[in-house]
Amino acid sequence: MGIPKLGPVIAIDGPAGTGKSSATRHLADVLGFIHVDTGAIYRAVGYLSLERGIATSDRVDSVRAADLARSVHLEFRRIPQKNPANRIFADGRDLTDFIRTPEVSMASSRVSACAEVRAALLGLQRRLGCVGKTILEGRDIGTVVFPDADVKFFLTATVDERAKRRLVELEASGTDSPSFEDVKAQIVARDHGDSTRAVAPLKKAEDAVSIDTSTMTLDQVVKLMESIVRSRLGLS
Ligand code: C5P
Repeated sequence: MGIPKLGPVIAIDGPAGTGKSSATRHLADVLGFIHVDTGAIYRAVGYLSLERGIATSDRVDSVRAADLARSVHLEFRRIPQKNPANRIFADGRDLTDFIRTPEVSMASSRVSACAEVRAALLGLQRRLGCVGKTILEGRDIGTVVFPDADVKFFLTATVDERAKRRLVELEASGTDSPSFEDVKAQIVARDHGDSTRAVAPLKKAEDAVSIDTSTMTLDQVVKLMESIVRSRLGLS
């Protein structure tokens, strides 16, 4: 793949609202691994695309989106006194607080369907994953970004449960909360876009462990993943 891996890589994929981000964050903490949220990378490009008129609510200029993805300098910085501490910067600007809105979710899904945007962001994700013991979460980590990941998980949950969780998150973030039905419709639309796109669609890698989180607590999901990782990697 070009870049040598300096430590084990864990891939966590799945649709929105399956508890992927929380589970990955906690798993990274208990294992002492670096957490790479690849969704934040696509969200940053989605946000900038909206800001620059490259994407609107129903279309995206794929040539300009690809130019943007190739030219923008994206990086994660850890700022312990902020919440979340893991921040995404684009050309030195902290976008973390602006990328979780429903509009940016849809824009990131639309720009992420452009093959050249994905190609432009692939190297960054691989570099971030190769620096040591890492856990990457996204849609195509186990299938495209790290097909040779040491452990792969694919998280699922019912649409109703995922919509419920997303609504709680949106309410907690203080943004104007849409209705349950709106959140659910958006999740269905995003699932459809992410899993039917031509390039790197959301799908389970053949060798990924599936976990249906619908009736599990976050703690149960993390404990299950931790025990699988420890036994696969021979960690005590
Ligand atoms: O994971 P999150 O919901 O933050 O991702 C936002 C969007 O970015 C997803 O709906 C998906 O379209 C895109 N994405 C992707 N590939 C990844 C991570 C995210 O296409 N590895």
